[in-house]
Amino acid sequence: MFFLKNNNIINLTKKIKSNKAVISIIGLGYVGLPLCLAFTKANFKVFGIDNNLERIKILKKGNSYISTINNLQVKKACNKKFLPTNNFREILNSDIVIICVPTPIDASKKPNMQYVQNVVIQINKYVKKNQIIILECTSYPGTTEEFFLPMFKKKGLNIGKDIFLGYSPEREDPGNLKHSILRKNLPKVVSGYSKNCEKIIKKIYQKVSNKVYMCSNIRTAEFTKLLENIYRSVNIGLINELHSVCKKMGINTFEALEAAKTKPFGFSAFYPGPGVGGHCIPVDPYYLTFKAKRHGVITKFIKLAGQINDERPIEISNTIANYVRNKKIKKNILFFGITYKKNSDDVRESPITKIYRLLRKKIKNKIYVCDPLVNTYGLKTLKGIKFVKLKKLKNSNFINSFEVCFIGANHDIFDYNFIANKFKVIFDSRNSFKKLKQNMKVLKKLKYI
Ligand SMILES: NC(=O)c1ccc[n+]([C@@H]2O[C@H](COP(=O)([O-])OP(=O)(O)OC[C@H]3O[C@@H](n4cnc5c(N)ncnc54)[C@H](O)[C@@H]3O)[C@@H](O)[C@H]2O)c1
Repeated sequence: MFFLKNNNIINLTKKIKSNKAVISIIGLGYVGLPLCLAFTKANFKVFGIDNNLERIKILKKGNSYISTINNLQVKKACNKKFLPTNNFREILNSDIVIICVPTPIDASKKPNMQYVQNVVIQINKYVKKNQIIILECTSYPGTTEEFFLPMFKKKGLNIGKDIFLGYSPEREDPGNLKHSILRKNLPKVVSGYSKNCEKIIKKIYQKVSNKVYMCSNIRTAEFTKLLENIYRSVNIGLINELHSVCKKMGINTFEALEAAKTKPFGFSAFYPGPGVGGHCIPVDPYYLTFKAKRHGVITKFIKLAGQINDERPIEISNTIANYVRNKKIKKNILFFGITYKKNSDDVRESPITKIYRLLRKKIKNKIYVCDPLVNTYGLKTLKGIKFVKLKKLKNSNFINSFEVCFIGANHDIFDYNFIANKFKVIFDSRNSFKKLKQNMKVLKKLKYI
């Protein structure tokens, strides 16, 4: 059998099995950093490569810049075999290279492949025989082959024999305490260019995941990630639309969802919210739209869901502005949470920042934001937004200068009893007062938005 006779594969497999393979992970963000820690935990030597020097400096000091990863986790990894660096030469010393750089969209919602393209250029001179290259970035089907095959061809490397190529979509859900790559319980979808690539790549991911699912080809694995996120986007769009109807009809959407959830089959609950944010849901669906168009298909569902989700910040800012104007409220307004979701520090594409900016144009009241989770990177991108520290809310003069608040991201760090007591009106986009909903006083203040 070819697999058994190929010495390159036998050696690489041995190295992986004995944890002697050296791994380079390029891009140390929400995806790359936890992956580095997971492979270090599995006893591999890991070079974490990032072109952001500030990030490398922080990691080298044993600190973290992502709120869902603590300093101790980084310190422990650095004390083992995790080596953060901005030196791409380390790829020469690596058996496995995993790429986790951003794949955003541009202003016209088209894929921006500049980061992947840059990596291809940066690693070109160091990629050599007997290496395994894996892309983890979310992108349209065909990306991995489009970007990496020409490089291997130019170098005269035979894929599946001299060099190995694969794709594994990332499912990292920052802040998810139940499922994560660090707990080894995040099922990994993997794929390889050839049978040999598949076998070897499966062995790698079995080191950090208890469940590895093999797709029969790379394009299917790439599509799988888009399928998962388009499914979310469309269902969030649907429930956001139904929520707008429910509000007009005086029906509590959340109560209806609890009732619908009692059906033991054929129903999965999605919840209305302030719109979608982060690096995935507002971005990934358009990667398929782009590729589908080239195949002559217009992705109508993706477009419609995107529109509905994008309209939520407008709808919410209008509702709050109308209320403030009609009731002639002069006091300040406080936003709780500005990140795109609960317990996360990520403000990328956050719909709450859109609501803040829209509302500021519509009313004269001062609007403050309290979000202790936003880190210094996030703050840099949020110029002009007035932040207030959590402890300042204990100052009675300050808290009395507010009447209305808006719950944007319902972090666990907030004291919902305190909020329910101190504010006259609470616009809640997250159903944050579930535990207090028996309390009639709280119910009267709450406005589902
Ligand atoms: N954030 C998530 O929750 C999530 C979940 C699943 C999949 N993904 C996908 O994973 C990929 C990475 O996303 P992320 O959220 O980790 O991004 P991120 O912005 O948090 O991190 C990317 C890192 O890559 C670095 N970088 C950029 N260009 C580089 C280059 N040429 N060389 C070296 N480093 C470079 C940046 O400095 C940054 O530290 C994307 O394709 C994204 O769609 C993200």
